[in-house]
Amino acid sequence: MPKPEIRKLPGPEFEALVKRDKKYISPSYTRDGLYSAAVERGEGVWVWDVDGNKFLDFAAGIAVCATGHCHPRVVEAIREQAGKLMHMSGTDFYYPPQVNLAEKLAEIVPGSPNKRVFFSNSGAEAVEAGMKLARYHTRRPYWLAYYGAFHGRTFGALSLTSSKAVQREHFAPLVPQVIHVPYPDCYRCVFNETYPGCDFACLKYVEDVVFKREVDPEEVAGFFVEPIQGEGGYNVPPQGYMKALRELLSKHGILFIDDEIQAGMGRTGKMFAIEHEDGVLPDIVTIAKGIASGMPLGATVASSSVMDWQPGAHASTFGGNPVSCAAALATINELESGLVDNAAKVGAYLKGKLEDLAERWEHVANPRGRGLMLAVDITRSKESKESWPEKRNAVIRQAFMRGLIILPCGGCGIRFIPALLVTREEADTALSILADTLKEVFKR
Ligand SMILES: Cc1ncc(COP(=O)(O)O)c(C=O)c1O
Repeated sequence: MPKPEIRKLPGPEFEALVKRDKKYISPSYTRDGLYSAAVERGEGVWVWDVDGNKFLDFAAGIAVCATGHCHPRVVEAIREQAGKLMHMSGTDFYYPPQVNLAEKLAEIVPGSPNKRVFFSNSGAEAVEAGMKLARYHTRRPYWLAYYGAFHGRTFGALSLTSSKAVQREHFAPLVPQVIHVPYPDCYRCVFNETYPGCDFACLKYVEDVVFKREVDPEEVAGFFVEPIQGEGGYNVPPQGYMKALRELLSKHGILFIDDEIQAGMGRTGKMFAIEHEDGVLPDIVTIAKGIASGMPLGATVASSSVMDWQPGAHASTFGGNPVSCAAALATINELESGLVDNAAKVGAYLKGKLEDLAERWEHVANPRGRGLMLAVDITRSKESKESWPEKRNAVIRQAFMRGLIILPCGGCGIRFIPALLVTREEADTALSILADTLKEVFKR
């Protein structure tokens, strides 16, 4: 079994670097003291730090390195393109990699058969473009988004984000005309008593309360939807919900804006997470993170009839630069040649093991997710479902000290999002470290 190798944590080189980091780097990053390593290089699901420690990386740069760290064919595509043309600006000029990638995305992204693509550099920018496009196309002022949503941190995207109050604190006033509604988070459903039974009570609430008391649906441009809520806790909607939502939005001419920035590009075992429900076609899809395996790229894909803005309406100097586009084309090639299937297979295996773990451990609850977008919660007890964020952080920290990199999400979640080429053996290594960590943290 391949294993991490830990020499010294924190190591001397790390300590020296952090001293300089503290002086020069913005203190706004959420480092939380969980990971005391400075990464120097990576290969597949493994990374090495400046002190010679070797880690098993089940975070993949926050679901970014879809093909693993430094996949040789992606690196080769980047090298080749960088040697030919690094920048020209698609705002004013044409170059092949951008059109090639747009053509490929138009083919693989779910939606109407005719699509157009707006390129940017990040998830937040892809979301901003989606917001502006929805308003431009519909000429309607409002957007809907979910509590628990994370769509990014620029002003527009932040106005849709409602994951943690600290992300918004001191930045108000935000972009007005955003209304938040509850996500179909069945594990923590707040509607059981209002609407006995389920039948998508959270959606009925939108119709019965939001559309009657707060906003006329004819004034809503678009609804931003994470097909699995990411940062907010890896919440998986019940089967049938997306179809019901699609019907509701179509009835009122509201655009369905599918944010696939975290869940897309093969992560859930299908190329796009919305495809887990047959026949749900979004109007706009936002993509970033995994699309270029670590190179900065955002894409906002819409049906051609929706992407009808005029020249000069929106643009980005760097968006869709040739090197990122080449990396994305190579990434998609790898995804289509087996990595999406691998995510489904190894993901199902890992999920089964997390379910076993949750059965055996009182404080491990709610195993969930699809493909390689998986999570469990650390709770005070299974029965109360009460979050235990301190212990969750302790598990993440202790796993790290043993050489496994995992990330938090939501109030007490731990996510498992390795690169899509992870093997069963590597998943077993992660599970064995996790089991040892739980023994240590819960003294069993
Ligand atoms: C679903 C979703 N949308 C948007 C974003 C924002 O992406 P970025 O950090 O690239 O701006 C994220 C980032 O985590 C995300 O998970």
